[in-house]
Amino acid sequence: MNFRIIQRQISEAEAKLLIQEIKKTPYIMGYTLKEWLKAQNIMVAEDENGNLVGVCLNYDLNQKWHKIAALFVLEEFRGRGIGKSLFYASVEKALEREHNIYASSANPITIKMMDDLGFTKFDNLIDFPMEYSQDKWLIYSHSLKWLFNSYRVREIIRKKILYGLGEPFVYGVKC
Ligand SMILES: CC(C)(COP(=O)(O)OP(=O)(O)OC[C@H]1O[C@@H](n2cnc3c(N)ncnc32)[C@H](O)[C@@H]1OP(=O)(O)O)[C@@H](O)C(=O)NCCC(=O)NCCS
Repeated sequence: MNFRIIQRQISEAEAKLLIQEIKKTPYIMGYTLKEWLKAQNIMVAEDENGNLVGVCLNYDLNQKWHKIAALFVLEEFRGRGIGKSLFYASVEKALEREHNIYASSANPITIKMMDDLGFTKFDNLIDFPMEYSQDKWLIYSHSLKWLFNSYRVREIIRKKILYGLGEPFVYGVKC
């Protein structure tokens, strides 16, 4: 199967599909329909017919920092290089725009991508790397805002009950 990566917004039908599918993974806490529809920086993987098969949701935290928020490939299309292409394209685009990148994941596949691309990793937000410490409050306040969302809180609780504590989250930055 051939696929292409483009940056575009997604339709309501695509967003609804993603919300349903993301409910099945322990690794992404979830985003609301409103969040998906307003997001400007989505890398989309499309098949030959333009059907969405994967996404990487990205957004700017400010003029300097960019967050890679959610990497997701529909289950039947995994293991074909789509996730890697989406993640790499998102990193490349952010660096081109001279933004530092912040990402976090508990999925070993994504953590390996962070390693391969030379992210500085840390296990806890409190241990923010010294060289970027002047920006840590931006990340902290963003993380609180991110959490302060009733859909996400419900999903976090539901997923903890369903999947247990799971692997720990790893954080990474790349400049
Ligand atoms: C994580 C995810 C996006 C990966 O997408 P994918 O298209 O299957 O990944 P790719 O085919 O591009 O593989 C990327 C790398 O992981 C490896 N990989 C893929 N599936 C793997 C598996 N099940 N076990 C171990 N390694 C795997 C590939 O060999 C490749 O390694 P390489 O860099 O050495 O070539 C996908 O599994 C997914 O959507 N998972 C659910 C959501 C999620 O966990 N998102 C990440 C949290 S932010």
